[in-house]
Amino acid sequence: MPRLLLIHTSLNGSNSLSSALAGDAVARWQEKNPAGTIDERDFATTPIPHLTAETFGAFTTAAEDRTPEQNELVALSDTLIEQLRDADEAILAVPMYNFGVPSQLRAYFDHIARAGITFRYSPEGPVGMVELAQVTIVATRGGRHAGTALDTQSAYLKNFFSFLGVANVEFVYAEGTAMGEDALTASIASARNAIDALHAA
Ligand SMILES: Cc1cc2nc3c(=O)[nH]c(=O)nc-3n(C[C@H](O)[C@H](O)[C@H](O)COP(=O)(O)O)c2cc1C
Repeated sequence: MPRLLLIHTSLNGSNSLSSALAGDAVARWQEKNPAGTIDERDFATTPIPHLTAETFGAFTTAAEDRTPEQNELVALSDTLIEQLRDADEAILAVPMYNFGVPSQLRAYFDHIARAGITFRYSPEGPVGMVELAQVTIVATRGGRHAGTALDTQSAYLKNFFSFLGVANVEFVYAEGTAMGEDALTASIASARNAIDALHAA
């Protein structure tokens, strides 16, 4: 049965614009996968802690050598990775915060990038070990940045998922959301069209 991982990263969680638009993408996915199941994660209601030296130390300790405390420290990361591996596709609702991704998403990445588990190094370089068929990023921004040097967020997200082995990363943008009512309405319509086009393909 196909599985979708849906992640809300906005401060406003499932009440955010990025989540509302991601909801449209989810609806399209459900049309194609009527028997599919959805795992949902909302960082606003269930925050991801920042990585600490102790947690990273537990990651890099062999499972059989971990103390009970270290087992507790790796448990969240293990759960997040299991959820990622169970999924066939992922949809992430991602507002731009201070030209980057929300820090909650950054903390999530720190928990799912694990050497020997989600990536490994070979003599030829890094090899991703995650097998998601597609990641869709629904990106909302108060200003307009896509296609300009200021949009380091898109490149970062593409690079991160590529590092984990996911080549197919699609972006849907709703930009200019803080530039007045007309710009907001137009950006929502354009994002909805992009979602329809993506799923018609
Ligand atoms: C803390 C914070 C930082 C933001 N930084 C940026 C930014 O760097 N560039 C930008 O275009 N918009 C920025 N915004 C505006 C949001 O990206 C915009 O309001 C977006 O539509 C929010 O989407 P959401 O409803 O999914 O949270 C910022 C908003 C917040 C709350």
